[in-house]
Amino acid sequence: MESLLSSWYATEGRDLPWRRTNDPYAILVSELMLQQTQVERVVPRYIAWLERWPTAEALAAAPPGDAIREWQGLGYNRRALNLHRAAREVADAGWPEDLTELPGVGPYTAAAIRCFAYGENVLPVDVNVARVLRRTGHSFSATSAQALMDLGATFCVARTPRCERCPLASLCPSRGVREHPVRKQGPFEGSFRQRRAETLRLVSGSSHALAALDEEAVRSLERDGLVAVRAGVVALPD
Ligand code: ADE
Repeated sequence: MESLLSSWYATEGRDLPWRRTNDPYAILVSELMLQQTQVERVVPRYIAWLERWPTAEALAAAPPGDAIREWQGLGYNRRALNLHRAAREVADAGWPEDLTELPGVGPYTAAAIRCFAYGENVLPVDVNVARVLRRTGHSFSATSAQALMDLGATFCVARTPRCERCPLASLCPSRGVREHPVRKQGPFEGSFRQRRAETLRLVSGSSHALAALDEEAVRSLERDGLVAVRAGVVALPD
């Protein structure tokens, strides 16, 4: 099964910018951006980010507000702050042995860095990869990681798998079987998440009086360290 997958990937795999590097900082940036945000939207933002801050040291030297502003539109802005904090820790003390000690880095992101940057045989299992493993019942080595991600994002999708185009179909016990995933994330429109995003967007443009903003959203952003409130004025942290 693994050789079918690798020959498919050799011709059909997506050419993505983070697949051309083994720099752990670049992999960290890509993986944090890719959590919850689609590949096509991430590509230009990843390139811009690395042009602006090519190293952890460069990012660490910037104020966190700049990182938050550069992150605008990617969603889940706490990731920007975590990335900035992680960059400061790496700039100060180097990469920790246990990567999950870095802010925002859980077992998945740690595995992705070990696999894509350090070349270790650790398979990063995100929801797409987990689906392919579950359906095929096969255990793949880490060399298949990028191919599994492509397969899970394109053909081996949850609701309507395109088994007729899948390179593994001939060996797959779940060929033609659909899943009905539960929706974990509620709608964004009208949600508190949207109110937070809108408030952060306003503050990113310029500082605002607290009284002019959605105070509940401001307080929640403040608790996450995404904004600072001083003398009734809300600004990005410096
Ligand atoms: N999603 C998370 N990591 C990814 C990667 N390295 N390539 C494509 N999609 C991904």
